[in-house]
Amino acid sequence: MNSESSSVSRRDLLKTTLLFSSGLLTGGWASRLQAAAAQTDFGKGGLHLLAVGDYGTANAEQKQVADQMNAFAGKLGSPLGAVLALGDNFYGMMTPERFQPGFEEMYSKEHLDCPFYALLGNHDYGPQYDSKQGRAKADMQLAYARANPASRWKMPAKWYSFELGAPGKPLVKVIYLDGNYFEGALTPQEKIEQKRWLEAEMTKKTDAKWLWVVSHYPLFSDTTKRGDKEGVKLLENWGSYLREKPVSLYLSGHDHNLQHLRVEGYRASFLVSGGGGASRYEVQQSPRGFSMQTRGFNHIHVTEDKLTVQLINPEGQRLHAFEQTIAGETRILSV
Ligand SMILES: [Fe+2]
Repeated sequence: MNSESSSVSRRDLLKTTLLFSSGLLTGGWASRLQAAAAQTDFGKGGLHLLAVGDYGTANAEQKQVADQMNAFAGKLGSPLGAVLALGDNFYGMMTPERFQPGFEEMYSKEHLDCPFYALLGNHDYGPQYDSKQGRAKADMQLAYARANPASRWKMPAKWYSFELGAPGKPLVKVIYLDGNYFEGALTPQEKIEQKRWLEAEMTKKTDAKWLWVVSHYPLFSDTTKRGDKEGVKLLENWGSYLREKPVSLYLSGHDHNLQHLRVEGYRASFLVSGGGGASRYEVQQSPRGFSMQTRGFNHIHVTEDKLTVQLINPEGQRLHAFEQTIAGETRILSV
């Protein structure tokens, strides 16, 4: 913990928590914005993760974010546990040959030598999107994971779960969901199967302290051009689990910016981390939290009783940071 965060009194902490839970935090958090180097000193314990989405552009912007992820990970006191790869992994026409320059070489093994748990975005499927390849494009990404078990690229299925932590001592259970409900992506049968799987997964016993849900699509978003629109259908399907189960984080990409929102009725912090390389989307500040039209990625440090999350830009500066307890109490940290 840095000195700024430890100096915040318990009264301040309660005040922030109450503001959050009552939705009274007006004016957003952007007014506090300053640039400061991201925190890298977290001591020896805990688990370090990065999250990035919408990166498959194969351009200089993707490279800049990738290099910053590597540089940042190199400054941490312990190795990275995993990267959560949030979809739109490859824009444009896909071939298996793109994996080498677009993934294996793009993300340096120097400090990013850990599993990249990937899921599919709309651009990884869509017949109506750039490549017109449809499901073949998604299948190529699943096939690469199957054929290359030694690769950091992990995509065992369109939806899946995994646990992170020390062997035999899971700290986080992560549930990955395929939100591509549009025509030409998930089949009607797959939608039914995923729903059944999610129901079973949510009731399965786990020793992990934390439960997170991840999909390419935000359920809530302060992106100007589409707001919450893209999440409406998914909320109908998944919302009850998020309200009733102890889900602490819902992570997504799709909107090309960085956001941290809190929404009444949910314990989870809603994170949008779609700044991996694609063109940036404008945001509309709201009382729900922080949003910024920027590229970048998220860093998450996990311990038994606390999450620390940093939203980091391509220059390595943290734009927003917070801590969250198991009970869902959130405290914004100075930047
Ligand atoms: Fe997308």
